[in-house]
Amino acid sequence: MAVSAYDVLAVSGSPRGVKGNSTILLEVAKKRLKELGFSVFSFDCCETRIEPCRGCLKCNQSGICVQKDVFSEMILPIFEGCYGVILSSPVYFWDVSAQLKSFIDRFRVAIRVSVERERIVCLPKVSRKKDVVVFFAQGEVRSSHYSGALNTVNAFVKGVCGGRLLDVVVARAVPLSRQIDLERESLSKVLKVLGVDADEKYVERLLREYANAKSRAEKAAERLAEAIRKS
Ligand SMILES: Cc1cc2nc3c(=O)[nH]c(=O)nc-3n(C[C@H](O)[C@H](O)[C@H](O)COP(=O)(O)O)c2cc1C
Repeated sequence: MAVSAYDVLAVSGSPRGVKGNSTILLEVAKKRLKELGFSVFSFDCCETRIEPCRGCLKCNQSGICVQKDVFSEMILPIFEGCYGVILSSPVYFWDVSAQLKSFIDRFRVAIRVSVERERIVCLPKVSRKKDVVVFFAQGEVRSSHYSGALNTVNAFVKGVCGGRLLDVVVARAVPLSRQIDLERESLSKVLKVLGVDADEKYVERLLREYANAKSRAEKAAERLAEAIRKS
């Protein structure tokens, strides 16, 4: 299959699709990248189901995955050809969504295992290093909640992409669909339904935080664009 030429692979891991807070951040970044003239291939790993890795490790010898599907036929060539990757995910039990984790696990085929100084080391196979930015959305505010998700992403960046994790943007205190996009009045109503005792000041603070997350997503896209230009 011919390698498709996209600058950036953008992956959404929210089962809420376009209503996901993490997807909304991803859309902000995609829009900015397109404005800056970069081509983006979008993939929703909840809409298109990817079978999980079977752990057979036949890819160690053959270099190819035994599962012939959208991932091996389409995503891998696009990944190989691209310069940057964006991942977005809800935080589920301190980690990425199961769908995004399954997607990441399939990249085992893109890891080369070798022995250095009597130690097994896993290195990226990619011929072109990729920088990465990531967007998370979580119901809580504490940073500990996205710590596991960040570990997962770091393993993907180091083991598969070979580039840098340029930016991590987290939308906090967004338990509900599309919450990051709510206007003042709807947000006040929603907080009441959630049983949150929210005065005007708190609502204002949340609105500022949501706007800040979106503007940081745009900046993250600009950082990725800059890194790609320099590469
Ligand atoms: C199964 C499940 C597990 C969750 N675990 C956490 C968690 O550990 N920490 C947290 O802050 N929020 C947690 N949440 C809340 C989600 O992170 C929150 O709804 C977020 O907006 C989802 O992102 P999305 O809108 O992009 O799908 C959980 C939600 C679900 C459905």
